[in-house]
Amino acid sequence: MALPWALAVLSLLPLLDAQDPACANMKPAAITNATLERISGKWFYIASVFHHPKYNQSVGEIQATFFYFTPNITEDVILLRQYTTMRGQCIYNSSYLGIQRENGTLSKYVGGTQNFVNLLFTKDPTTYMFSFYLEDEPNQGLSFYARKQEVTQEQLREFHEALKCVGLQETEILYADGKKDLCGPLEKQHEEERKKENIGSQVDIESG
Ligand SMILES: *[C@@H]1O[C@H](CO)[C@@H](O)[C@H](O)[C@H]1NC(C)=O
Ligand SMILES: *[C@@H]1O[C@H](CO)[C@@H](O)[C@H](O)[C@H]1NC(C)=O
Ligand SMILES: *[C@@H]1O[C@H](CO)[C@@H](O)[C@H](O)[C@H]1NC(C)=O
Ligand SMILES: *[C@@H]1O[C@H](CO)[C@@H](O)[C@H](O)[C@H]1NC(C)=O
Ligand SMILES: *[C@@H]1O[C@H](CO)[C@@H](O)[C@H](O)[C@H]1NC(C)=O
Repeated sequence: MALPWALAVLSLLPLLDAQDPACANMKPAAITNATLERISGKWFYIASVFHHPKYNQSVGEIQATFFYFTPNITEDVILLRQYTTMRGQCIYNSSYLGIQRENGTLSKYVGGTQNFVNLLFTKDPTTYMFSFYLEDEPNQGLSFYARKQEVTQEQLREFHEALKCVGLQETEILYADGKKDLCGPLEKQHEEERKKENIGSQVDIESG
């Protein structure tokens, strides 16, 4: 229950000021095959703001997180492999997320309930956001992800603008600290195991 976007959330359509062009990105768009291609691969968790006290507390325990999305566009699921460093330990988890294309949400079963997050794109294709409970002011949340652990001021500015759109404060941001990441060796081990499996299956095909 520690990942910002594995949190128990239920998102509804945010009530936003449609007049403000800076906030146009904050409206959830339908998820397409192109969307899924865009979010496929490795991402780093950069920062988040959570008003929900429980989420704020669990995200506060996270030192660093990176993860891989592997969408299956025929099944409308995403395999998620996540590497979280918290309390000085690397924790690896894999799970599947559901895709609700029409309403632009991803979902995950946590403790028997289906929880939703809104996928929000930034102008920069190498970053994106998840929004949580935007309609429910006391529990609002917004989290920010990038292809690299280090983000530029320009990239961060898009996150700051998004926070402003939904009335969250920059002073509330909790940042990941990539320097504290302890999951590098486990990721490497997994990569090597997968390479071996691939070679193994090629051999099977060749000899079969
Ligand atoms: C990993 O998965 C287990 C079982 O679903 C869960 O209890 C645990 O909180 C998860 N850990 C993280 C860091 O997400
Ligand atoms: C999104 O779509 C799914 C399935 O199509 C539905 O169960 C869910 O209630 C929808 N959520 C919202 C916020 O509309
Ligand atoms: C979130 O947690 C941090 C400590 O990790 C605390 O300083 C901050 O006040 C909390 N914010 C909210 C909205 O609860
Ligand atoms: C997607 O899921 C289907 C059904 O489980 C499976 O046959 C197919 O190989 C999967 N595709 C990918 C790219 O994993
Ligand atoms: C998305 O990709 C799937 C699998 O290749 C395909 O069946 C489907 O028609 C595509 N959808 C669109 C809108 O192109």
